[in-house]
Amino acid sequence: MTPKNPKRRSQAWFGKQDRDGFVHRSWTKKDGYPDDSFDGRPVIGICNTWSELTPCNSHFRELAEFVKRGVLEAGGLPLEFPVMSLGETQLRPTAMLFRNLASMDVEESIRGNPIDGVVLLMGCDKTTPALMMGAASCGLPTIGLSGGPMLNGKFRGKDIGSGTGVWMMSEMVRAGQMSQQEFTDAESCMNRSRGHCMTMGTASTMAGMVEAMGMSLPENAAIPASDTRRNRLAQLTGRRIVQMVEEDLGMAKIMTRAAFENAIRVNAAIGGSTNAVIHLLAMAGRMGVELSLEDWDRLGSHLPCLVNLQPSGQYLMEDFYYAGGLPAVMREIAPLLHLDALTVNGKTLGENIREAPCYNRDVIKTTEEPFKEHAGIAVLKGNLAPDGAVIKPSAASPHLLRHRGRAVVFENIEDFHGRIDDDDLDIDEHCVMVLKNCGPCGYPGMAEVGNMPLPRKVLLKGVTDMVRISDARMSGTAYGTVVLHTSPEASIGGPLALVQDGDMIELDVKERRLHLDVADDELRRRKAQWVAPEPPARGYARLYVNHVQQAHLGADLDFLVGGSGANVPRESH
Ligand code: FES
Repeated sequence: MTPKNPKRRSQAWFGKQDRDGFVHRSWTKKDGYPDDSFDGRPVIGICNTWSELTPCNSHFRELAEFVKRGVLEAGGLPLEFPVMSLGETQLRPTAMLFRNLASMDVEESIRGNPIDGVVLLMGCDKTTPALMMGAASCGLPTIGLSGGPMLNGKFRGKDIGSGTGVWMMSEMVRAGQMSQQEFTDAESCMNRSRGHCMTMGTASTMAGMVEAMGMSLPENAAIPASDTRRNRLAQLTGRRIVQMVEEDLGMAKIMTRAAFENAIRVNAAIGGSTNAVIHLLAMAGRMGVELSLEDWDRLGSHLPCLVNLQPSGQYLMEDFYYAGGLPAVMREIAPLLHLDALTVNGKTLGENIREAPCYNRDVIKTTEEPFKEHAGIAVLKGNLAPDGAVIKPSAASPHLLRHRGRAVVFENIEDFHGRIDDDDLDIDEHCVMVLKNCGPCGYPGMAEVGNMPLPRKVLLKGVTDMVRISDARMSGTAYGTVVLHTSPEASIGGPLALVQDGDMIELDVKERRLHLDVADDELRRRKAQWVAPEPPARGYARLYVNHVQQAHLGADLDFLVGGSGANVPRESH
């Protein structure tokens, strides 16, 4: 058979008329494919993070079937493959430890196989950056398809948001305002349908980042998982990836510096998760795009938040979709975006959002009357964070954005859990809670523990927020005056390691300042006595700690930064 396109990448496997070609075709044919399946039509890999251990992605087998339908309609050959799935709610010590491992799985699975284009099925928090990072290091034509958010949680006549509701209700239980039975009842009411967290947490944020960068079809970020329009989008995605292969529309043409700048601005406008900072820095590193922590502050911190969604606001992703979703937000901030940025549907971002309607101004506000002013991520610097730390002002208490307080230090997460509710703990609402050794190397994996629960004795006074500082991350569904990603982290001897109980700490978000009010001589003395913690003994955690970069660089493994393209000249036999 004369192949339709002998130069097609997959033809290096399926197009050969020798022993190797026999092997590649024959074993694939046993799944029922006829001869002409290998005639040079685009082979589309469907990279699936389905797992029952990742409940947010547990519907992905069905979603993949709709992608396949679209691929077949457009004349391609769909081949689905699994990659490591990262369930945010289950994985210990934290799913973030394995983001880079999953990205390696994705990268090598794509590169090593006869694939011309890829559809990435992503949902739960880390699955999105892991797949985007891995695919970026190969660079083939690629479309992201999110699994979609859950329907609104419903509990006793009210909407409750996944994650955000947990943090809120667990504090109510600790403060004696909610019974244990009510708390248990809420479990099946909060997360009641397929999909990922339906607050503007990390999953929804990252789905938004993918759409803002032009790496998905329009509306991808917000269509609820249970809405059949999600399946329709999957089918259209399958059709479009075949065309993208024909057009040789690889990731480098879409994920440009302009695309990242658009994403940073959109993150501010949607009140997106602080986790997006780390993930976009890592994705940019894979693409070879220059992007720094400071870019987040420079490009996004002055922008307003337009979206009234939890954790910063009131509504949930289902409401957001019905209000117009991400295209409506992007249309509202269009003058701030690079409208000529190319997207996966072959149109520019400007073309995609030109007519985008908004149906509910209570959910998606205007730039003239935003939901919150100056809502983007702020980057703090100072002697406590020489390489930076981040805070999300829109989720913080305004009266704490400038604060000086006495440090109450927890050496690690076990120390925190062991003492936080001790009535003898010397702490009040004016103190600054400091948590060490929860960064990339310290935890390891930089867990979402930065939004430390407040001490019970402070909660009982009716206080709901305190300044908290750590080298950890926090869930995108969380809120509070929480300084995160302090870099360098404590466990490699960053200044955070030197903080002691009673030290005074100054936070000034307006001035972007995070200062430990201790003399330099004293800090040098403490540093000389500091003892580094023992690294993990073996396995992936050992590899990770030896090679992970600090938070301000995106916490990728140093040897994974950049890409290797998709070429593998050697045969397997
Ligand atoms: Fe999966 Fe929140 S736990 S998105």
